[in-house]
Amino acid sequence: MPSTFQTLRWRDGAIEMLDQRVLPERQVYLSFDSAAGVAGAIKDMIIRGAPAIGCAAGYGVAVEARRVSHQSPTEFETTMSAGFAALAASRPTAVNLFWALERMKTRLHALSSQNVPARAAALLDEAHAMCREDVTLNRRMGVHGAALLPERSRVLTHCNAGALATAGHGTALGVIRSAIEAGKQVAVYADETRPFLQGARLTAWELQQDQIPVTLIADNAAGFLMSRGHIDAVIVGADRVAANGDVANKIGTYQVAVMAHRHKIPFYVACPLSTIDVAIARGEDIPIEERAAEEVLGYRGMRWAPPGIDVINPVFDVTPAQLVTALITEKGVVLAPDREKIAALFS
Ligand code: MRU
Repeated sequence: MPSTFQTLRWRDGAIEMLDQRVLPERQVYLSFDSAAGVAGAIKDMIIRGAPAIGCAAGYGVAVEARRVSHQSPTEFETTMSAGFAALAASRPTAVNLFWALERMKTRLHALSSQNVPARAAALLDEAHAMCREDVTLNRRMGVHGAALLPERSRVLTHCNAGALATAGHGTALGVIRSAIEAGKQVAVYADETRPFLQGARLTAWELQQDQIPVTLIADNAAGFLMSRGHIDAVIVGADRVAANGDVANKIGTYQVAVMAHRHKIPFYVACPLSTIDVAIARGEDIPIEERAAEEVLGYRGMRWAPPGIDVINPVFDVTPAQLVTALITEKGVVLAPDREKIAALFS
């Protein structure tokens, strides 16, 4: 079931991204041909979602290399270092960004004996490969995760962990797509996901495009629906998973996990291995991004809070591993994730 849209696409020597700030009203592709441009796109949430941010960063490196492929090797190395630094500074929480930059850096170092245009061409190939692999891994995760769902199920998701958050298919929504492809009947409840409304604007739109049944709910309705027996499972994505299985994901995920635990509803996290950061021991060490107060004070020019009000806007939270029923990865399902089981994924 391929999606009807592309989150990122390569056109005319530049990387184009579907502008997620203006969905669902408008489908607009914006084009970027420099690392600074791509870093800005990530920062401004034109593209978002951990694996999609990683893919965008890969293309950020590739377009920068093409842009300056006329430079001398020394100039090229200096420019590329600045490009890597700009991309790394774009957003702090999704580890896929740093994973992708490391991969591109390793590729670049391996090319040091080649001329600059050849290095630029190889970096573009690497970025294309990374995105293709992302879709393949999401499909693998989908198959593993689909097996966890009953023939008929009502699944709650938070934020958008779909095709829009990846190079295609999605992580959490990938599991739902794969379950439907396998003939299961899945209906989705989408939390609206204040304040950026990834659920209301993106998940609702993306699932509608594929004619997957979806019902939008206010974030604070999730506990009530669970208490009335309307939810069979929760599936979310992740921005970074610590070595002990603690999960950083969109703000509000922790509350959903606590409610799921209270109501004995399985809480699944679908994420590729590139989202697991074994260098971070536990969730409290994961850097949590704070974004502008404006995101909480109003939306698209409309303000509802009184002038002068104090605001904090942490955009991710951490769900302790104890509340996670299973991690769904491309290598399989990890029930009750802990340090040992996560280490085994990488051995
Ligand atoms: O701030 P965002 O929209 O980038 O946050 C996205 C999320 O929290 C997603 O749930 C996560 O990246 C998983 S995406 C497959």
